[in-house]
Amino acid sequence: MFSYYGSKSKIAKYYPAPNHLTIVEPFAGSARYSLRWFWFDVTLIEKDEKVFAVWDFLQKASPRDILSLPDVENGVPLNSLPNWQQMSDGERYLIGFCSNGGSSQPKNVSGRHNFNSWNRDKKRISESLHKIRHWNIIQGDYEVAPDIDGTWFIDPPYQIKGKWYKHHEIDYPALAAWSKSRKGQVMVCENEGADWLPFVHLRDIPFTHFKSQSDLRRKTSEAVYYKE
Ligand SMILES: C[S@@+](CC[C@H](N)C(=O)[O-])C[C@H]1O[C@@H](n2cnc3c(N)ncnc32)[C@H](O)[C@@H]1O
Repeated sequence: MFSYYGSKSKIAKYYPAPNHLTIVEPFAGSARYSLRWFWFDVTLIEKDEKVFAVWDFLQKASPRDILSLPDVENGVPLNSLPNWQQMSDGERYLIGFCSNGGSSQPKNVSGRHNFNSWNRDKKRISESLHKIRHWNIIQGDYEVAPDIDGTWFIDPPYQIKGKWYKHHEIDYPALAAWSKSRKGQVMVCENEGADWLPFVHLRDIPFTHFKSQSDLRRKTSEAVYYKE
């Protein structure tokens, strides 16, 4: 739905299809795997209150609410936008994420290049709201996820590159044990080189945390742990 650092937008299609009726994403971010299979029973858990506020706003918003948010020029302070002070946190954070492609936190100034144009994204988001109405979206730590037999898409902050998230202090051995003990189909995402589970190579994909034109040519190597 919204631009986010580490989102699985380019790679969600390479993970196995869900083979249970319920999908749980205990590290939600922008939840690209669940969005790909949005008609399933989806449960998201997200610890960061700003990311959660965006989901909470989107789940209750009408298409008109989204389309009436202001357009954003490149490189402007967002508090100069019309009605900025009257907006909810969720509205402000949504604009802060979408006017800065691939950010881990909503910014206060729109990107100078604004690769993911918010003005264009508004229309797409307004047409996608029906996808998430039935989802269960929870703010909290991953461990509050319901202990169900389902499809688990577990995409935590990465061991090496996860430091950009507000919450990134993960006890990886504990997460490995927790992931292995989930019932059902389990996918755990990482970058190649992580060693806290026996990950295998999935795909090389373009780098998403781009700050310059040269970053658009960089690749990152995705790995996965899978069990059924
Ligand atoms: C790699 S991102 C997930 C990206 C997501 N798969 C997507 O497609 O956008 C990891 C997310 O986990 C969240 N997070 C970090 N620590 C957490 C924790 N202990 N419990 C739940 N969520 C956490 C971060 O705020 C971040 O949004």
